Amino acid sequence: MPMIGKPIDRTDGRLKVTGAARYAAEFRLPGVVHGVLVQSTIAAGSIAGFDLSEAEAMPGVLTIITPDNAGKLQHPEHVQQTVPGPLLQNKDILFNGQHIAVVIAGTLEQAEAAAAAVRVRYFNAEAATSMDALLSQAYPPKHFRNGARPPDSSRGDPDGTFNSGAVKLDLTYITPIEHHNAMEPHATLAAWNGDKLTVWTATQGISGAQATLAGQFGIDKSDVRIICPYLGGGFGSKGNTWPPATLAALAARTVKRPVKLVLSRAQMYTSNGYRPRTVQKIKLSSDIDGRLISVRHDGFSSMSQPALGEFSEPVALATEMLYACPDLAVTHRLVALNAPLPTYMRAPGEASGVFALESAMDEMAAALKMDPIKFRLQNYAETDPHENKPFASKALRACYEQGAQAFGWDKRSAEPRSMRDGNTLIGWGFATSTYPTNRQPAAVRVRMDRAGNVTVQSGTQDIGTGTYTVMTQVASDALGIPVQRIRFELGDSSLPPAPVSGGSQTVASVGPSVQAACAALIEKIKDMALSGGGWRGQSREALQIRDGLVVGADRRVPIGALVEKSGHPFIEVEVQTKPGEEKQRFSMHAFGAQFAEVRIDQDLGEIRVSRFVGAFDAGRVLNAKTASSQLIGGITYGIGMALLEETLVDGETGRVVNANVAEYLMPVNADIPDIQTIIVPNDDTTSNPLGAKGIGELPMVGVAAAIANAVYHATGVRVRKVPIRIEDILV
Ligand code: MOS
Repeated sequence: MPMIGKPIDRTDGRLKVTGAARYAAEFRLPGVVHGVLVQSTIAAGSIAGFDLSEAEAMPGVLTIITPDNAGKLQHPEHVQQTVPGPLLQNKDILFNGQHIAVVIAGTLEQAEAAAAAVRVRYFNAEAATSMDALLSQAYPPKHFRNGARPPDSSRGDPDGTFNSGAVKLDLTYITPIEHHNAMEPHATLAAWNGDKLTVWTATQGISGAQATLAGQFGIDKSDVRIICPYLGGGFGSKGNTWPPATLAALAARTVKRPVKLVLSRAQMYTSNGYRPRTVQKIKLSSDIDGRLISVRHDGFSSMSQPALGEFSEPVALATEMLYACPDLAVTHRLVALNAPLPTYMRAPGEASGVFALESAMDEMAAALKMDPIKFRLQNYAETDPHENKPFASKALRACYEQGAQAFGWDKRSAEPRSMRDGNTLIGWGFATSTYPTNRQPAAVRVRMDRAGNVTVQSGTQDIGTGTYTVMTQVASDALGIPVQRIRFELGDSSLPPAPVSGGSQTVASVGPSVQAACAALIEKIKDMALSGGGWRGQSREALQIRDGLVVGADRRVPIGALVEKSGHPFIEVEVQTKPGEEKQRFSMHAFGAQFAEVRIDQDLGEIRVSRFVGAFDAGRVLNAKTASSQLIGGITYGIGMALLEETLVDGETGRVVNANVAEYLMPVNADIPDIQTIIVPNDDTTSNPLGAKGIGELPMVGVAAAIANAVYHATGVRVRKVPIRIEDILV
């Protein structure tokens, strides 16, 4: 009975619901003291001087680190952010809320009180806070996709052919700054033992944290150990190693004691990235039969001052590959503001870019008086039109069909405002979803002990999505032993290295290595059994590993005996797998179809999402329960994007004015309807041996467009920005 696919409970579920699962801030060390960050209250300028006398005299204060005494940190090349102000390396102020000092005191309360008593004098400069005012000064990113490709691309002659279309659209869409708002705050506990650093920190990438801290402190990677067994959400905000983790380690080195530094909820709006605001211009041209003639997608995203580093929201990458159109161009530009450095946030690029593209596609379908799904099918890409390669697999047609059927799409009447229930306008909207299938090298170690119990280890992460559970299932099938006898260990940089848990790649990267390591373990056990002799010419293939035994036709040898003989406490193998040349030959993407029903009070304009259906081609699903949770979570995230989420920045001061979870609106249970998720079966073993495409980001892509399109269908009002608010549709 295969375990892969089964909806088993989380192996760490009991630990989590009983509070036994330890998160970074919950680890305890003797002698620990507390660090609290002091932040700038201006957005641009520099620090003229500190008055620390009052703060330093307060009870429990050990020291205050400022740019005057912080000492020099190095800047490892791979790190997204450079090392200026926020790491106390100079006195420039580049955004409101920038870290300018760390107060270290015996208790958290003492450190907080002293941090509030730090006085700062500034040289104030004029802050750039309006993206719209600076659009004309936009510039191309220097390290787009970490330098993997240029920010612009084109095929054919989209500007030349645009005018030959029967219907031409030239539209602008806007998405706001959004923050991840992970439930667990960013937290670090740092301790030095001589020149060796141990750090418990909330991170999506322990290998990256290890490399970053080693680089910044100029020590060997092997002298830095990162521990993160559990994560209370990251959504991309814990992908990089942000300054607070470094400052905790710096503080611990300074006071020669372990230091715990936990961000306040408000500090999580300035200290660990955000989804930048985007302005997206889309030009579509179509013939009368609904065949796209020309596509242009010009994306602008808001940035910090360039001295802080670079991040660019890759809004138009899905546009390149989603539809078969011969003439197409995309560009990506940045607008520098006095703001913190933005970063990846769940489906970075796709979430905001597909909102624009799939809204525009809906506008085109409406202009052509064509069913929105039929219009997508008219332009269905059988192969990747940008990379000119076949897809490793693509079951998007089946997503359209199964999603439409479950939703009842055929009962939709095309005209806006044509479906109602008394005073309530009903709208049905649709959008396509897509996200790349990523994979990186990952190493796994498997051990079997004398009792036949197995420990599988990898330096990967469980960001709350179920890595512990699904990897146990993969190992169970690969070894043919029950999950109860398998323990998966992760979240420690002393384990074999694995990639960052971002880009929806953990399963596709670590899973194949678990399979390969388990297969190698079986071979090793067979070697050990066969080398003992006495199998009378039985073939190696015929031997089986079962219930702690090596089983042949007429003989069984307990694995415990083999372990005993080896003189070690266990039999162990370590294997690394990595993507092969399939990446060159195939284009790898997951797909989906999103269907939204909205109900809108026609007098008050209140918008409720009343039904949602998402059908997904995410490749092979490892656990039907954790997968469905991720799909529902992603759609919920998308509903938040469509109707609620927006970080508001005061134009005068450059300060986030809703830096709390009361005024940064997010969906709660009462905002979320019945969500029906459909998995379209499609084992994509071309993309990776496990056949999984990744499921973390895909389900939120297209949700905002499906809802915006439903709002248009309900009201006849086209809203080209999110969040869509009551005032946008009261016309
Ligand atoms: Mo995700 S934004 O790649 O953590």
